[in-house]
Amino acid sequence: MDEVKVGIAGLGRLGKVHANNICYKIPGAKLTAACSVAEAELEYAKNELDVSDVYTDYLEMLKSADIDAVAIVTTSSEHCWQIEAALAAGKHVFCEKPLGINEEECKAAERAVEKYPDKIFFLGFMRRYDPSYAYAMQKIKEGAIGKPYLVKATGIDPESLVEGSIKFCSTSGGIYIDMASHDIDLMRWFLGDEVTEVYALGCTFKHPEFEANGDCETGCAMFRFKNGAIGQIHVGRTAAHGYHIETEVVGTEGSIRISPVPAKNLAMIYDKNGAVVECVGSFPERFADAYVLEMKEFIACIREGRKPDVTVYDGTKSTKIAYAAAQSLKEHHPVQL
Ligand SMILES: NC(=O)c1ccc[n+]([C@@H]2O[C@H](COP(=O)([O-])OP(=O)(O)OC[C@H]3O[C@@H](n4cnc5c(N)ncnc54)[C@H](O)[C@@H]3O)[C@@H](O)[C@H]2O)c1
Repeated sequence: MDEVKVGIAGLGRLGKVHANNICYKIPGAKLTAACSVAEAELEYAKNELDVSDVYTDYLEMLKSADIDAVAIVTTSSEHCWQIEAALAAGKHVFCEKPLGINEEECKAAERAVEKYPDKIFFLGFMRRYDPSYAYAMQKIKEGAIGKPYLVKATGIDPESLVEGSIKFCSTSGGIYIDMASHDIDLMRWFLGDEVTEVYALGCTFKHPEFEANGDCETGCAMFRFKNGAIGQIHVGRTAAHGYHIETEVVGTEGSIRISPVPAKNLAMIYDKNGAVVECVGSFPERFADAYVLEMKEFIACIREGRKPDVTVYDGTKSTKIAYAAAQSLKEHHPVQL
């Protein structure tokens, strides 16, 4: 296939990032259609992306648009039925994480992917494509830190965006389902093993609105793996300094830390405040390269007839483990998987 024609569903915060990437940064891809339930987003597609074939109805886009593939960047609860419909309509599918919001719908998406083996299904666990995470994995495979046995992950949204987090939290599924799916995927990826038990806690010290909405501000969870390895995840929404994503993988011969200081770039400012490293401010900024690289890989998989490394089963596992963490938080005891 010379050129892959893509229709995008959802042009919100992340949809706009993917749409711009497909338009301007992915060789061999062309954005030919767009769909959203928000009229303003369709105007954006027409005016900013020069995409005139727009739809408010997703199924109508699948039926009428000239597309080979869809990029699903809609609200998480829409993902699974949209995956099934796209595959049934003969389209390749890129879908944002999480795969689904419960295990049943993830299993239905698995069955659809299995039913159409000639179609590419790509799940947006883009951190695996981030140059630093990919490099860490390469070093682990080369034996640089021996046998990895502990992953510590931190993911804290900036305080500057806390109003949005508060607004979103009552419908987000809770802090683990909303925020931990990338870290859960990375733990499984780095350790090459599966979670058997999770114990999760949560607390709220700054914004009581999180608790009032049935969620919490900060979560901390421990994960036991089948081979005895350990995972630890700290998620939160009130980082004073910026968007803090940090991961450490500890092995028998050493350890690797990815962005121990979540720096904006390599510059250090020396002024009356001291020697200051500015921090990265948001996910589109921190993972700009990763969003491009994962979309390049999706398009390359279609053009070369290759299957991606990330599978639909990785999506189900991440959702299932996040649910176990949410259950542990609610019921105050460890949960077995
Ligand atoms: N990989 C990452 O780092 C990352 C970061 C942020 C969000 N996400 C995921 O991306 C998805 C979108 O997140 P967002 O922050 O852009 O949300 P958003 O609310 O800003 O945008 C979602 C868009 O989907 C559209 N939509 C909803 N239902 C639709 C339907 N049935 N048909 C067509 N369009 C529909 C809405 O118009 C909305 O604009 C979520 O699943 C989220 O979990 C992933």
